[in-house]
Amino acid sequence: MAEQTFAVAIGSDHAGYPLKEKIKAHLLELGYFVKDFGTCNEERCDYPLYGEAVGKAVASGEYGRGILVCGTGVGISIAANKVHGVRAVCCSEPYSALLSRQHNDSNILAMGARVVGDGLAFMIVDAWLLGKYEGGRHQNRLDQIAHIEATETENTEFFM
Ligand code: RB5
Repeated sequence: MAEQTFAVAIGSDHAGYPLKEKIKAHLLELGYFVKDFGTCNEERCDYPLYGEAVGKAVASGEYGRGILVCGTGVGISIAANKVHGVRAVCCSEPYSALLSRQHNDSNILAMGARVVGDGLAFMIVDAWLLGKYEGGRHQNRLDQIAHIEATETENTEFFM
C-alpha cells in the first residue's frame, strides 16, 4: 500500500450518516488517519454545521483532505465552499472526482447518499484520493479563484 501523506476529515448529516460510516471504514482499511466530525446517528440535523466543521478543518491545514456526505451532496458542499480556502466538489462518478484533483486541486469531496450506491461511492473516493494536482496551466486559474475570494470580502464590506 502507498504511504499515506495526509489525514482525512469526514462529516455528514443524518441522510449521509450510514454512507459516511462505510466510507470511514474504507479509509481506515486503506491506512488513512480519519477524524470524524459527525453526525453520529440518523437523527435529523442540519448539514451546514458539518460542511463548516470539515471545511474549517481542511482550510486550517490540520487535515489534508475532507469528505462530506448528505442526501445529495449538494447542500453540504455549498456550505463547505463558504469557508475560504475550500475547493469542495460534489461528485457522483469517478471521472469528475479524479479531474477535480488534477485540474482544480479539490480539497473536499462531497457525495449524495441518495444518489450513489456504496460501491460507486468507494470508486469515487479511491479515484479522488489517488488523483494528483497537475499544477502548470491550472495554477493561474486557482489563483483567480483565490482572488475572487479575497476581493469578495472587500466588496461585501463596501455594501454594508
Ligand atoms: C436532508 O433531507 C437533505 O436535504 C440533505 O441531506 C441534503 O440533500 C441537502 O442538500
